[in-house]
Amino acid sequence: MTMTTGLELLDPNVYGEKGPPHETWKRLRAESPVHWCEVPDFEPFWAITRHEDIRSIARQPDVFISGKGITPLYRDPAMNRNEGPGAMRVVINTDPPEHRELRKVASPWFTSRALKSMDAAILKSARELVDNLAKEGGEGETNLASGIAVSHPLRILSTALGVPEEGEAKILELSNRLFAAEDEDLGSGRSPEEFERLGREFIELFLPIIADRRANPTGDLASILANGQVNGEAMGPAETLGYYLIVFNAGHDTTKNALAGGFRALIENPAAFDAVKADPTRSPALVEEILRWTSSVNYMKRTAARDTEINGQKIKEGEAVMMFYGSANRDESVFENPYTFDLDRSPNNHLAFGYAEHFCMGAQFARRSMRAIVEELARRIDHWEIIGEPEWISSSFVVGLKHLPVYYRIRKDS
Ligand code: HEM
Repeated sequence: MTMTTGLELLDPNVYGEKGPPHETWKRLRAESPVHWCEVPDFEPFWAITRHEDIRSIARQPDVFISGKGITPLYRDPAMNRNEGPGAMRVVINTDPPEHRELRKVASPWFTSRALKSMDAAILKSARELVDNLAKEGGEGETNLASGIAVSHPLRILSTALGVPEEGEAKILELSNRLFAAEDEDLGSGRSPEEFERLGREFIELFLPIIADRRANPTGDLASILANGQVNGEAMGPAETLGYYLIVFNAGHDTTKNALAGGFRALIENPAAFDAVKADPTRSPALVEEILRWTSSVNYMKRTAARDTEINGQKIKEGEAVMMFYGSANRDESVFENPYTFDLDRSPNNHLAFGYAEHFCMGAQFARRSMRAIVEELARRIDHWEIIGEPEWISSSFVVGLKHLPVYYRIRKDS
């Protein structure tokens, strides 16, 4: 019996119906950790499912390159958004040495010290969003996946990127169309026309901000990007715009989906939530376990730049390898009881933020944002329960829930 054709590993509709393919990953890790997949819609690829193999690939950015794209290629070229006209070279799909120069543009802003400038905005967002829940007379019903989980990262990223409040709804719509293209509630398809439209709408939103921050730099992330230099020269308009796009898009859906899945995990594992209520200093450990548990960035692709090997398996130049971070984060050789949500997990060497060369630039930012909202909820929620079937987004790249209906009782702030 074939273990998998590979379709269920990539097909957005499969994720929409059932969520990530944990059973298949488990079999692949045990029996075929470097597995050749040929599926009708996508170019063939190697599925890499073990933690150790993924780290080994990520440590060799010269051999396993990102420059040929980070998502699987459709066989129909018109479906490939990281190819063709309008494609931008951004930090996430470049390779050393170019990658290191591009990374230097924004990385100083993402250090813990610089991020302190965002603390007030992060706490304000968490406080206001939880206050809004309390407005309904201390109890109510809400869809946590399309409510708080969306609004919190949206507000924070909009602040950092200088998007005015009235632009937030637009940026959210664009992000959904980009990342959940196949989802009937959130996306609007993958046609080339839709891709062009998306590009134009992103440009209309960000170009005025870039012009403003060039004229009046403030030191915020928007200003750093607008005035960024690579090898001593100002970035061109396409590079600057590409950086805006990657920061917003890499930051929003990822954090939103981690939060939605995290809320579900907390409701289903009340002991973990109670432990953080009793001792808020445990929230960093909680956030790490949420990151592992949800693995909202499900995979990244690399392409072999020359003939090589992974775990004894020969890989030919030009072949694609898909690193399934979601599988690595359930790898039983690294995590004891990987299918248990465990606040006490230590160490927690998850790969939710990737590894090595392309390690997530926004990791500290995401951690702070997640901690703020989890701590605020732990301080105020008296009771919450899931009151309907959670639903998954039809997306295999950035994965998570779109529907998490919850009844809650909440304390007014004292
Ligand atoms: C829970 C939230 C997040 C998750 C799970 C996540 C995950 C990841 C992963 C797995 C990568 C590695 C890509 C690769 O292997 O090629 C990555 C890269 C990146 N992330 Fe995040 N991310 C999150 C939040 C953020 C935020 C909030 C920002 C910015 C505000 C951000 C910005 C970036 C950037 C710029 C890169 C590219 C880094 C490079 O190529 O050197 N991410 N992220």
